[in-house]
Amino acid sequence: MTCEELYQEAVKASSKSYSKYSGFHVGAALLAEDGRVFTGCNIENASYSMTICAERTAIFKAVSEECTSYSAIAVAGSSDDDFSAPCTPCGACLQVMSEFCGDDFVIVLSDGAHKLGDFLPKRFTEDNMA
Ligand code: THU
Repeated sequence: MTCEELYQEAVKASSKSYSKYSGFHVGAALLAEDGRVFTGCNIENASYSMTICAERTAIFKAVSEECTSYSAIAVAGSSDDDFSAPCTPCGACLQVMSEFCGDDFVIVLSDGAHKLGDFLPKRFTEDNMA
């Protein structure tokens, strides 16, 4: 699957977004090493801090299916169906990615492919507890 195809899966997943408070629709498409694609959307809540981002929805869906090895995630966000601006993953989502993925994990945004290591170079991992 190409980066562009994965990005289009993320755009498609954003149509499921439950975002009545922000009006910002986000979709994520997580490509597992075995080729499966897990999608997710942001799910908001009247108690705002209970909101979950699209990326974590996709990752938690995958983990709950016992799939923990991934090669890439695409993220697409928009309030008006124009997905041309990059939707950068938040710090919480990057931290969750770093639990399962290394520096070379690919993050596909509207402006192309990036690496997890570029967004979160000195992240907290289990090694810090050694
Ligand atoms: N959001 C995501 O789902 N992923 C991101 O990468 C950034 C932000 C959601 C959370 C909230 O529902 C809305 O976008 C506005 O912050």
